[in-house]
Amino acid sequence: MSDNERKWSNGISRRQALAGLATFLAGSPVLRAQQDPFPLAGHRRVPGFDEMTTAYDFEPVFRANVPRAVYDYTARGTDSEFTLRRNREAFDWVDLAGGKAIDAGAVDTSLEMFGERLATPIMLAPTARQRPLHPDGELGMYEAATAAQSAMIVSHASSFPFDRIARAADGPLWFQFYPRPDRELSRQILADAQAAGCRTVVVTIDQTASAYERALHNRHLGGEPRTIERPSAEDLGNPYGVSSGRLWYDWSYLEDIRPMVTVPMLAKGILTAEGALRCIDIGFDGLVVSNHGGRAIDYGPSTLEVLAEVVDAVAGRVPVLIDSGFRRGRDVVKALALGADAVCLGRVPRWGLGAYGVPGAQRVLEIVQAELVQTMAVLGRPTLAALDRTAVRTDFP
Ligand SMILES: Cc1cc2nc3c(=O)[nH]c(=O)nc-3n(C[C@H](O)[C@H](O)[C@H](O)COP(=O)(O)O)c2cc1C
Repeated sequence: MSDNERKWSNGISRRQALAGLATFLAGSPVLRAQQDPFPLAGHRRVPGFDEMTTAYDFEPVFRANVPRAVYDYTARGTDSEFTLRRNREAFDWVDLAGGKAIDAGAVDTSLEMFGERLATPIMLAPTARQRPLHPDGELGMYEAATAAQSAMIVSHASSFPFDRIARAADGPLWFQFYPRPDRELSRQILADAQAAGCRTVVVTIDQTASAYERALHNRHLGGEPRTIERPSAEDLGNPYGVSSGRLWYDWSYLEDIRPMVTVPMLAKGILTAEGALRCIDIGFDGLVVSNHGGRAIDYGPSTLEVLAEVVDAVAGRVPVLIDSGFRRGRDVVKALALGADAVCLGRVPRWGLGAYGVPGAQRVLEIVQAELVQTMAVLGRPTLAALDRTAVRTDFP
């Protein structure tokens, strides 16, 4: 075979060359600049700030503002996203039972929790990495939460260190902790958060081996921002990099860390009466009924469906909070009527911050709070104590 013939037979085919070019273009920053930020799609114009009337109005503006990977990181749920959808669907299975309407001015949404007076039972759930949403990140979120008189739970995976966030405003600030195998490291993290002034510690116990397929579809073209390094496929011992998540811990870990916390300590990720009772036995002072906003195990129940079971088992011994799927004040009313003491919002304040920065996050919280007040007024329930199960009719499948 001549040199020329050999080159020809070993060289890449036209098809391979085109595939190579397509791969290069797909990964190229030049093309990415045309894909991101996400186009405004079906919207003829971006609504103005004053036109924002429901939490949902903020979502498309946030989506238009940020790269697709940042949007998807907030939006996604695990696997087929069944639980993500079910969290929303569950609200359709709970009717509000009318009462004798009262004046909205007579409604008082304040409550006492862990010896502290809170103006509203609507809190901010811990959500990681807020800086990609807006340069102010958690500093801005805390400012907005304080302005809206909502307590904020700061994620362990925040973009700014907890002590810096704690200095950004002065409202109620809680710290969320992800278990760490090293007990000494756990002790240090918990001590630092308490020294920086967190008023409670929320231990998340539900994040498990979850796969987010939206990230796979993006093929990481957006270069998703990270604060926690993920283990490599080799470290995980499987070729597809399916996350081992945080499944390593068991109840004894929670027993070990309980004495490390002197402020009230809550367990987040409760979905059964059994889990709730076990946590109370270990010494937790409160529970958060949560499926991580549909981001833990897919095909689990919605939190609204299991709330009454947990509330009944707990029987008032500790406060029961709930999150996952809450978008409107009407949603909040349903959970409070079923026995929750407070409701946490995860994605909603992220939409606000990502759409309009601090004023957006503040406004979106105020909108949901106002909807809560209006609904309580229509149902004739002037206080949270008056909002009991007679305010709802449930028809879960
Ligand atoms: C983008 C994003 C990041 C999250 N990060 C955390 C986290 O760091 N720690 C945690 O305990 N929960 C985290 N969660 C779960 C939330 O605390 C909360 O359970 C969930 O968002 C509630 O559902 P919702 O978004 O429908 O309101 C995260 C949720 C989202 C959407």
